[in-house]
Amino acid sequence: MNKCILLLSWVLLTLGCSDHTRQQNDTAQIDRKWWKEGIVYQIYPRSFKDTNGDGVGDLRGVIEKLDYIESLGVTMVWMNPFFQSPMVDNGYDVSDYRGILPEFGTMEDFNELLAGLHERNIKFVLDVVVNHSSNQHEWFKKSRSSRDNPYRDYYHWWPAEKGDPPYRYSLFDPTGSAWKYDSLTDAYYLHYFAAEQPDLKWENPEVRREVYDIMKFWADKGVDGFRLDAFQFVSKDTTYPVFPEGWVDDFIKYYSMGPQIHDYLKEMNREVFSKYEVFSVSEGAGSTFQDAHDLVDADRNELHMAYHFKTVDLVNSLDGYELSEFKQVFSEWDSAFAEKGWISIFLSNHDVSRLVSRFGNDSPEFRTVSTQLLNTHLLSMRGTPYTYYGDELGMTNIDLDDISEYNDIAAKNSYQKALSEGQDMGLFMERLNFLSRDNGRTPMQWDNAENAGFTTGKPWLPVNENYPEINVADQENDPNSVLNHFRKMTRLRTNNLVLVYGDYDMILDDDDQIYAYTRTLNEDKMLILMNFSDQKAQAKLPEAFEVEQIMINNYSIAPFKKDSTVVLEPYQALIVRFDGR
Ligand code: NOJ
Repeated sequence: MNKCILLLSWVLLTLGCSDHTRQQNDTAQIDRKWWKEGIVYQIYPRSFKDTNGDGVGDLRGVIEKLDYIESLGVTMVWMNPFFQSPMVDNGYDVSDYRGILPEFGTMEDFNELLAGLHERNIKFVLDVVVNHSSNQHEWFKKSRSSRDNPYRDYYHWWPAEKGDPPYRYSLFDPTGSAWKYDSLTDAYYLHYFAAEQPDLKWENPEVRREVYDIMKFWADKGVDGFRLDAFQFVSKDTTYPVFPEGWVDDFIKYYSMGPQIHDYLKEMNREVFSKYEVFSVSEGAGSTFQDAHDLVDADRNELHMAYHFKTVDLVNSLDGYELSEFKQVFSEWDSAFAEKGWISIFLSNHDVSRLVSRFGNDSPEFRTVSTQLLNTHLLSMRGTPYTYYGDELGMTNIDLDDISEYNDIAAKNSYQKALSEGQDMGLFMERLNFLSRDNGRTPMQWDNAENAGFTTGKPWLPVNENYPEINVADQENDPNSVLNHFRKMTRLRTNNLVLVYGDYDMILDDDDQIYAYTRTLNEDKMLILMNFSDQKAQAKLPEAFEVEQIMINNYSIAPFKKDSTVVLEPYQALIVRFDGR
């Protein structure tokens, strides 16, 4: 037995033993894959680091921070779009899939960035936005120019002489309708997002061929993976049936997993994925476990990893979430994928507000421990964890009061829609303040210089005014910072396959403050213990837990008392190697 054994009755003040990698015996049966063992760091390029003083982050900024990225212990970088774009939706409206927007840099910069990541053994994941293009893409310009243009069928058109098209809901349009009338050819085109983002018609094999060519262009450059934006929506029933009453409330069921989606993915897999050493994940995974499995199970030869929204969607109102639900959703998704398939683990990205503000406690008193707890959770679950830039520091929501301060098209257009519907605008603004995507897009907080060291110019989105308290430079020097805790977690995960592949079993199921689970791989056993509340929490562990070593603890107090009792401080999070059970 390990010489660092601790008895439950001990009070451990610091980590007594160095982090060690247990001999991983018997991993032969595991279907090991680099992308399962990876840790993704998501970079929103506009907000990461500006090197030319125009107030917008750029590729050279990411290059400048490569050593920082490496120091995080992450192994994959997913970067949001940096292609040519009118930037109506910050790059999710692409006008040239092979060109780089000059604001971000050049193809030489991209090549250097990719090489720099590869030198550091970090893989690069490209964001592929092909449910729709920009309305400024050449394809769309040609498509709308006349009804008999060869590109007409690259998009979904409804000729006006057929009457009004069957209602389709748009996620971003201020009117709510996804059909936009275009007088040039007296027809409507379909846009599930903004009117400037017309949906590509995947039913047309020419469109699919174009997309695979684009993907091959980037794969030939050496990108290691693809994140397919909004891909669950690509296949549509082009007879555009009228959906039953009330369908908009459950629109994912009607919009996602259209009739041909699996054929398209199999084709994409054949044409692209199978020809390179690449991994793939698509945004959204339908509405059931089965939908998600159907996208990613290895024997189907479609995608590699599912990215479902059930966990992140736990907070979609000012009411926050119940820990019981949080535990249930994570546990159910784990068990649904225990035998087959693989999922992404995340609670934040560029489409939601900040991790600690949404799922933790961002008050000055608790934001450090509370972010550490959330990162402990995300990096100790089965699945591939994704960390969104800034969440390794505990960056928080920004307080934007007036709609004129918002940048995001979704915020602006939903404001217009709410106004035209006569909604309670006070409540609307309160919700927006808490939930808006702009919260998650404020510039990275590097140090306490002006503009948090992000830019010497005027930042495109305000820097959060708490940057003097939350920034990389300060956290580098503090061994107990959120940043250094994050690094401990990535090191622990990378060195312990049990945290990647081990079985997950929840304990203390009904506790309403503590979320606890074990991860087990053969003889290797870890217990994760987290107090999700701002009060002390006490519980009794099941008999026979013998603590061998505390691997992670965000407090200097160990919680183990006599008789298997644990007393956790507010937001205390531990990972313990144990024996027994
Ligand atoms: C999903 C992306 O994550 C989001 O940022 C974007 O606005 C929509 N797709 C439309 O592309």
